[in-house]
Amino acid sequence: MRRSSAGASPPSPRRWPDLPARDPERGPVPSVGETVAALTRRLTAAGVPSPRVDAELLVRHVLGWSRAALLTRAGEPLPRPVATSLDELGARRAAREPLQLLLGVVGFRRLELAVRPGVFIPRPETEVLAGEAAARTPAGGVVVEVCTGGGAVACAVAHESEARLVIATDASADAVALARENAARCGLGVTVLHGHLLEPLPGRLRGGVDVLVSNPPYVAAGELAGLEPEVRDWEPVTALVAGPTGHELSDALIAAAPAWLRTGGWLLLEVDSSRAPDVARRCLSAGLTDATIVPDLTGRDRVVLARAGPGAARSGWPPGQDGSAD
Ligand SMILES: C[S@@+](CC[C@H](N)C(=O)[O-])C[C@H]1O[C@@H](n2cnc3c(N)ncnc32)[C@H](O)[C@@H]1O
Repeated sequence: MRRSSAGASPPSPRRWPDLPARDPERGPVPSVGETVAALTRRLTAAGVPSPRVDAELLVRHVLGWSRAALLTRAGEPLPRPVATSLDELGARRAAREPLQLLLGVVGFRRLELAVRPGVFIPRPETEVLAGEAAARTPAGGVVVEVCTGGGAVACAVAHESEARLVIATDASADAVALARENAARCGLGVTVLHGHLLEPLPGRLRGGVDVLVSNPPYVAAGELAGLEPEVRDWEPVTALVAGPTGHELSDALIAAAPAWLRTGGWLLLEVDSSRAPDVARRCLSAGLTDATIVPDLTGRDRVVLARAGPGAARSGWPPGQDGSAD
């Protein structure tokens, strides 16, 4: 709808949302709906993958509106101060800064978590990993999440299971701080430790872990340049790249799993879809059983599960590669 500039004083936008709105000093102002459309065009031109959704979320963010409010109040004029901050956010999104960093929060399963530059942003596909981990956590069980980032998986499992103990680790001090903040924000009892893979864990947990879950870095070094700008330019490289093959950290966790899991306990790994069958085979080679591949919400192979059988090699595989210290 186009607005006419006729009329000296602005009508109440609530009573006549389809009538012209006018800023007394600077002329006509666009409606909220027109603003969404204009921002969608700007983001489309910048190559943003979901321009309409992002435009709506940014407009709702600056207005503090629900989705229902955006639908029913689209004819209202956009307040000037909001227009200024929206313009700045739109420019940042057009420059491919991740939407979640602009919003400051992300929804993950049933939780709302804080996000910050320098710590990996939880992705929707990882919700599958968290759900599978929660479903395999027995009441009173022990859960370890390695490579927790901002704590999304550990928090979701603590929220959705009756675990006795949820411990998370990360090599990044910024990630550890954010994971602790998110656990507190959600009122969840998650212990977050700083260090390499399983090294920070107390040795008494060896052989007693029910669920060992991780979304480790799994990009091969040569694949980095081909990632979306939001990932390549904004996520820490240490959160993405595992090494030359992409298998390096998942291999270390597969090697460590038999020593830490109790018999029947589960290892769950998020993987690159192209490497899922290979990761499942590596689990079996390490003495784990029941290797299974679970697709993500888009149908891509995303999670590999395997469990510690009675005969699992407690010394780890390959020998001396279990990435842990007592
Ligand atoms: C892909 S991100 C996953 C973050 C979070 N679990 C999620 O799914 O949103 C990988 C995380 O592994 C951490 N990391 C990388 N190398 C590590 C290592 N050797 N030991 C522990 N954490 C590591 C990074 O700091 C990063 O937070």
